[in-house]
Amino acid sequence: MARVFVSCPLPGDAVERLASEHDVVVGEEHVGIRGDAFARGAAAFEGLVALLTDRVDVALLAAMPRLRVVANVAVGVDNVDLGACRARGVAVTNTPGVLTEATADLAFGLLVAAARRIAEGDRLVRAGRFRGWTPSYLLGARVHGATLGIVGLGRIGQAMARRARGFGMKVLYAERRPLPAELGRALGATHTSLDDLFARADFVSLHCPLTADTRHLVDAGRLARMKPGAVLVNTARGGCVDEEALADALEHGPVAAAGLDVFEDEPRVHPRLLARDDVVLAPHIGSADRPTREAMARIAADNALAVLAGRPPLTPVT
Ligand code: GLV
Repeated sequence: MARVFVSCPLPGDAVERLASEHDVVVGEEHVGIRGDAFARGAAAFEGLVALLTDRVDVALLAAMPRLRVVANVAVGVDNVDLGACRARGVAVTNTPGVLTEATADLAFGLLVAAARRIAEGDRLVRAGRFRGWTPSYLLGARVHGATLGIVGLGRIGQAMARRARGFGMKVLYAERRPLPAELGRALGATHTSLDDLFARADFVSLHCPLTADTRHLVDAGRLARMKPGAVLVNTARGGCVDEEALADALEHGPVAAAGLDVFEDEPRVHPRLLARDDVVLAPHIGSADRPTREAMARIAADNALAVLAGRPPLTPVT
């Protein structure tokens, strides 16, 4: 029996599964590894079920000399120092696959909401400012038939491409290695460079991990290349976008709107973005449908169980 720290209560049966074999301590929501329950047991924990809000860095690893596995309840692992874990022989796992469709659903929802000004309209109606139908009231961008640029055509990017096809959109994608031609054809997605994608797309949606290469991938230069009236959607990681530059591009053009589920310094949202009616804001809920979150928690638990039993994890991060 090992001691395992679970950062906070999880949906579904994940904690039960862990507790059937191990001695489990569950932290408090929004506190997790920053709380007393963690500090008291850190030296003894062999497993850590971590959230994307938990920074697993050298200092944390030094406080956890017996740690064998970090099971992240997320597909992204930018919160984990992978090199430091590797150097200490700590396995790192994530939750790919199960959140693909849910995240693409939310991304497409944000795309439509930002283009068609749904959240802004909701605020107007609630404020009693809907004065009846007129031909030029709350006009937005056209979604069907427009060109969508997908940055990162991995699982979620591909799911986004399938949705876009249902809306009759043309799809461009940027990816370091283009997909096999037949897969690109099946998705109706055409490979191009990042700069060309930003110049040609009416909508740009980010589906890349946050790495040293993708930090501020959307910067002032790329934003300036976008078409007048273009819309940016980000359900990947806030750090992929320079938020100050995005606020400038919304204020002075060319960008018309944005749909954002992630932010550079969560839960803080840049005040200039908060103040704008043309930005739809979601609180990092890309994967937040119930079955998806239950599946993510279960995979994280099963990864921890596997490593602690000396078996290979289901979904190691390589
Ligand atoms: C959520 O943002 C995830 O990486 O799973």
